[in-house]
Amino acid sequence: MEGQAKGLLKLINEKGIHRNTKFLAIASGKGGVGKTNFAVNLAYILANDFDKKVLLIDADMGMANVHILVNVNTKKTLKDILNGERIEDIIFTTRNFDVLPGFSGIDAINEIDDSAVYKLVQNLNDISENYDFVLIDTSAGIDNKVISFIRASSKTYVLTTPEPTAIMDAYALIKSMKKLYDYSNFKIVVNMVKNEDEGIETFERLRSSIKKFLDIDVQLAGVIPLTKNLQKTVKKKQIISEVYPSDKFVLHLKKIAASEVGEPAPEIKEGFWDRVVSFLRKEG
Ligand SMILES: Nc1ncnc2c1ncn2[C@@H]1O[C@H](COP(=O)(O)OP(=O)(O)O)[C@@H](O)[C@H]1O
Ligand SMILES: [Mg+2]
Repeated sequence: MEGQAKGLLKLINEKGIHRNTKFLAIASGKGGVGKTNFAVNLAYILANDFDKKVLLIDADMGMANVHILVNVNTKKTLKDILNGERIEDIIFTTRNFDVLPGFSGIDAINEIDDSAVYKLVQNLNDISENYDFVLIDTSAGIDNKVISFIRASSKTYVLTTPEPTAIMDAYALIKSMKKLYDYSNFKIVVNMVKNEDEGIETFERLRSSIKKFLDIDVQLAGVIPLTKNLQKTVKKKQIISEVYPSDKFVLHLKKIAASEVGEPAPEIKEGFWDRVVSFLRKEG
């Protein structure tokens, strides 16, 4: 009897049923602040330095470009699931992490019938169970359906740079999410800083406005320095974490990854994908 119970437990663990998947969205108010590079490198580091199973979803509808940064040619995207493709045939693996390449025009999700929505969610639901982390790279701003991914995520990294416009837009995103959806699970990343002080000052400006006007206590996830190596590697379609593992960009990202891994897993009551779809429907 005991042997049987042990066998069952082993089976359950092997199937990953008890895996507590973390869903992390990566967002910003302003475009071009480094979201996709952050997402790709966080995926790389979690997979290669921390031995985590990672799925990176490219949800930047309209400008899906994760596959370009990792230099993988892909013809099939998330959308093809609706045309009967198996999700396993769409996801590709690169550098020990998986990528679900994006497509343009998520508006189409409102036009598909219930059984197709159910199929999509079921597919994503089944597949998500296999991962420790599901990272979702979104597009800038709030004027799109991608907000549904943020709302469903247990945490959202909001990226800004020290530029006043980027700070204002980050504030606007957080304000909208709070006012419209009462969502406040944000962590701030200040990217492209010249030095630590500039990062802290930028965060402090954002933090104090968020506290004063929205009464949310946001935390700093980390600051990431400006580095020439990133531009170099992007041009060559290389991943900086792979090519320059001791670049300051990579070291700062490793710190963020380490604290992410050390944190207790968040409780997710409802299924992530069910929430995404119910939010999409409400807005459609
Ligand atoms: N820390 C950094 N140092 C130097 N350049 C950066 C840094 N972060 C981002 N960049 C530059 O910004 C560009 C846009 O980054 P990307 O990740 O595509 O932004 P987003 O996804 O927010 O639009 C990159 O191609 C890169 O050249
Ligand atoms: Mg991007």
